[in-house]
Amino acid sequence: TATAPRRASAYAPSNIALSKYWGKRDQARNLPLNSSLSISLAEWGSHTEIVPAEDGADRVWLNGAALDAETPFAAKALRFADLFRAGRDAPLHIRTRNTIPTAAGLASSASGFAALTRALVSAFGLELSERDMSLIARLGSGSAARSLWHGFVRWDRGTAPDGGDSLAAPLDVHWPAFRIAIVAVDTGPKSMTSRDGMNHTVATSPLFATWPQTAEADCAAIETAVRAQDLPKLGALAEANALAMHATMLAARPALSYLKPESWAVLERLWRARAEGLQAFATMDAGANVKLIFEQTDSADVLAAFPQAEIIAPFSVQN
Ligand code: PMV
Repeated sequence: TATAPRRASAYAPSNIALSKYWGKRDQARNLPLNSSLSISLAEWGSHTEIVPAEDGADRVWLNGAALDAETPFAAKALRFADLFRAGRDAPLHIRTRNTIPTAAGLASSASGFAALTRALVSAFGLELSERDMSLIARLGSGSAARSLWHGFVRWDRGTAPDGGDSLAAPLDVHWPAFRIAIVAVDTGPKSMTSRDGMNHTVATSPLFATWPQTAEADCAAIETAVRAQDLPKLGALAEANALAMHATMLAARPALSYLKPESWAVLERLWRARAEGLQAFATMDAGANVKLIFEQTDSADVLAAFPQAEIIAPFSVQN
């Protein structure tokens, strides 16, 4: 028998894919065409609190501001809560606070839906495995399936038509020297949501045909490099994978380019620094910002080349 929800809160880190998820085989269930592998961003993420609404009305706050129920985030969060309410009358107040600096220009849907999943599971007193939580978080946002854990996480594409095996799991890899830097080049709103960007690319890009196999092979090779803690190998694979993903978008008709001239300037500077010995590599998502991966010994050189970089130590926190 269903119990009334109680107050609950949860935290989930954001994540950056080193092997990208790009393209869905099922829209409604957020089922990917390929597996992906990410690194979570430690204390950069979302805190979410669920409170049973005494005023009887659903309400959503983001970073302290009350949202109109029609804003995309509020509408999506409430629709997601409906999965837990299952038709019951249980009005909720949902408060989300992102610790990701706004200036970093990173999307927060991954951490937002992962934290919302954990908070709702506990508010409704459900006994769910982390596996099941990953499945549910995936329905909110694909990348949220990977945001339930710290460290490296792999999302297996799965094969079941209903998506019952398309979920993520953490890798048992502890790599304290691993670093990620965010080089913010553009903090404005993105040109197209990742959902629309994926769909447009899948539907119109002649280069997309080879992506699913390439991405699946990259994901396996990247997992091997992560397990070996081989930064040069991992970096080369992750950078190639990200650029291949952006190449599929550039070939879409019309072209889709999340990368801006400043993104390319950062890449040029990185490639020059690498020719001079810097062991750092880039990855880019559905936005103009560039993320660098490297090891702690190269932190000072990364900062010298990119003074605006924000450095994150993913293993400064533990699951
Ligand atoms: O699940 P979404 O809608 O956040 O899409 C994520 C798309 C990329 O960030 C470009 C790649 C990824 O795997 O995170």
